[in-house]
Order: sequence, then structure tokens, then C-alpha cells
Amino acid sequence: MHAFGLEEAGHYEAAEEAGLAALDANPDDVWAVHAVVHTHEMRGEVAEGLGSMLERQDDWGDGNLFTTHNWWHLALYALEAGDTSRALAVYDDHIHNDQAAGVPIEMLDASALLWRLLLDGTDDGGRFQSLATSWAAKSGPEPWYVFNDVHAVMAYVGAARFDDARETIDRLQRSAAGATGTNGFMATKVGIPVAEALLAFGQGRYDEAVAGLAPIRRDFHRFGGSHAQRDALKRTLIEASIRAGDKDMARALSAERLSARPRSTCNWLQRARALRASGDDAGAAAAEAHSAEHRSQFAIALAR
Ligand SMILES: [Fe+2]
Repeated sequence: MHAFGLEEAGHYEAAEEAGLAALDANPDDVWAVHAVVHTHEMRGEVAEGLGSMLERQDDWGDGNLFTTHNWWHLALYALEAGDTSRALAVYDDHIHNDQAAGVPIEMLDASALLWRLLLDGTDDGGRFQSLATSWAAKSGPEPWYVFNDVHAVMAYVGAARFDDARETIDRLQRSAAGATGTNGFMATKVGIPVAEALLAFGQGRYDEAVAGLAPIRRDFHRFGGSHAQRDALKRTLIEASIRAGDKDMARALSAERLSARPRSTCNWLQRARALRASGDDAGAAAAEAHSAEHRSQFAIALAR
């Protein structure tokens, strides 16, 4: 817990040290595995992160409450390494399939992974449809913890079930109106505007997605989850600004992301799209070359 707190506060080296100390004492402490994984994720250290996960797979890979989430982290590394097939295989085997329990804490990881594919224009092979059906089976008259509702909206939008997305947002709005509790606050300040922006993105209203996300981009943390989980929202904002033709916004945000994680291949590819959209073909080609260079190193780590 200490390691994860340090990580979310940005103290990555101290977090890794605390997490490894916990693992020395208790190698199958899946929370400690997870905290160390986050320190690598946030530093863009794909080879190190993959190495630490694969090396310890017997300690976290099945039979615990955190199995699905840690596999999700491994799938994120696979995406960074450019191996979409591997990420999808992890999705099918460990994150969501016909035998999945259908609990929100696992389905939200499924939504978050597929949403990244959607942003990159990758075919999900019908997985969004199946996931949306699973979310719908759990839906009732009351909303959940708002972080879950937003991930349900992701699945509905990805499956083009826009009416279900709308209904989920309306339910959140009804529930949050006049609410004084934490969930109501998180829904009003972040969850509802984010869900509206996701729906706008899915329907091609990219300027509305930008208008909804840009003013609250420094408040995403208020509705829970981790930096790694909320990263999907930051990517959505950049992608929406590219598609809306908001060139200055796209360039500024993609540069900001790279300054935080200069080895992220996904960030370099998004930077390339932002530069190409603003007519800088040479800059875009250089950004793509950076991505390819890092990916070739990460692919070696993934193959081990
Ligand atoms: Fe995590």
C-alpha cells in the first residue's frame, strides 16, 4: 500500500524500492507486484515492467482477486511494444471472455483496454459487443461507483450502443442531482462530463469531446482509479483534438505527454498523428521513427 501510494504521488524510485521490499518478504503479495508494475508503467519502462511481470508470473497469474487487473497491465505493455495480437490474446484468455465472472472491477479493465484500441483505430473483432452485453446484464435502476459507470459507457460507445450509453449517463445525472456524498460529487465534477465526452467521441462530435474534457483534464484524479487507468481519458482528449482539427491543442497536449513519458511508443505515435494533422510531415516521420526504435527494444523483451 505504501509503494502504491508513493507511485501515485510520483515518487517512482521510492515506490519501486518499497514494492520490492514487500516482495522480498512475501513474493506472492499481488498488491506489491502491482505497485512495482505501476512504477515501470509510469516511467515508460516497458522492458523492465514486462521482465518483472513475466519473471514473477507464477506468483500473480491466477487464483487471486487481482489476477485480471495485473493481466491488464501486461496487455498495456504489449500495446506499448506494438504487439496488438498479444494484447488481444491476453484480453481473451484473462480479462474478458464467455466464462468471465462479469464483475465491474474486471469489466472496467476490459473496457479500458478496448478503448485504447478504438482510439488507435484498431478493429476490436466484436469484443466490444460482447463486453457491452456483459455490462448491460449488470445494469439496474441505480448507478454504480461512477468510475464503473464511465467504463460501462466506454463499452456501449465502442459497441455503438449509443442509447445504452445515453441511458447510463441519464441515470448518473438523476442520481447525482442534489447528492451530497462522494460518489455524487465525483459524478458531477468528473464522471458525467467524461461520459458525455466519450459518447461525443464515439458519435464523431470531436469538438464537443474536446470542449468537455479539456477544462477538467487536471481533475480526472477526483473520480478514482490510478494514473494508468485514467490515461485513457488523456489519450481521448488528444485524439479528439486531432480529429477535431484543433492543431494547437493536439500539439501542446502530445508534447506534454511525451515530456512525462519520453519512451512511450504510443505517445510518439499520437505525437506523429498530431504533427501530421498540422502539416509537419517531417516532424511526424521523426516521431514515428522514435516509436519504432523503442518498439524494437520492447519487442525483444516481450519475446523472452
Ligand atoms: Fe493498476
